[in-house]
Amino acid sequence: LRASWLERIGGASDEATLEEVRVAALGKKGEVSLKMRELGKMTPEERQTAGPALNALKDELNAALGARKASLADAALEERLKSEWLDMSLSPRPVRAGTIHPISQVTEEVTAIFADMGFAVAEGPQIETDWYNFDALNIPGHHPARAEMDTFYMSRKEGDNRPPHVLRTHTSPVQIRSLEASGAPTRIICPGRVYRADYDQTHTPMFHQIEGLAIDSDISMANLKWVLEEFFTAYFGTKVNTRFRASHFPFTEPSAEVDIQCSWVDGQVRVGEGDGWLEVLGSGMVHPNVLRAAGVDPDEWQGFAFGMGIDRIAMLKYGIPDLRAFFDSDLRWLRNYGFAS
Ligand code: PHE
Repeated sequence: LRASWLERIGGASDEATLEEVRVAALGKKGEVSLKMRELGKMTPEERQTAGPALNALKDELNAALGARKASLADAALEERLKSEWLDMSLSPRPVRAGTIHPISQVTEEVTAIFADMGFAVAEGPQIETDWYNFDALNIPGHHPARAEMDTFYMSRKEGDNRPPHVLRTHTSPVQIRSLEASGAPTRIICPGRVYRADYDQTHTPMFHQIEGLAIDSDISMANLKWVLEEFFTAYFGTKVNTRFRASHFPFTEPSAEVDIQCSWVDGQVRVGEGDGWLEVLGSGMVHPNVLRAAGVDPDEWQGFAFGMGIDRIAMLKYGIPDLRAFFDSDLRWLRNYGFAS
């Protein structure tokens, strides 16, 4: 009996088989257990020799089962170590971190340069009343500039008597909001999204502007020209001259469109010295009607304002031909221009 059980224990090739052997020998109905139950039917003399022998057998089988179980576990571990291994010399897979969107990067760059010149950042809502977007900026209801701006109007239900709202067509309404809130003197820039119904290689229905406003007792166009040349020279990292062309905006008088100096090399624009000019912004002296609408006395205060396309100066700096690519979220494009890793 002993020899046959020890042989079966030693021959069990895995833990499940070993457990079957244990149940067959020592389980409730196992052969050894049944033998022990028969002790009761024996004479005392028979029991005296059979009892200790069976108990010793039970202990021996338990020990053999435990030993076999441990060696099977060792073998299984050994097997796993052989089949699963780690090559510590292999280089890790590249981790690709997200990056700040190029327009946000440029916006930060631009605000940092103006901050150095003492301009604080102001912001306003993208959904504006037509009063802030137009009327307060000296653009009354009949003015042709309203039609020219390709305005998105918010739809209104019958009986809605809130003022009409639009998606702001420029950042200029922030001039009014900021003057209302803090008054004069002031020096602010207002970056943000603006909206016009227009779409081609250089126009998207949503784009970005940065508004500048400086109001004090004796600010002039000369200050405007200096600030802009300082800005462009810092932003492009090379001396940039500006050219002011007489223009017209309802909210400035006089008004000027500003060009920056550039050259063309192999059909590519290069900002800096050269015989070319690129239009980059609109500007002028804030119209007295605008100051009045914002609660500022035009007899006491005056100053300049400008509005510049952020997307446009980002395209110029990085040599990007198609504005729409900024909003496609194409990783290959972002990586190509160094905007993502
Ligand atoms: N708001 C004008 C535009 O969007 C730009 C501008 C701003 C012009 C401030 C003059 C002064 O075209």
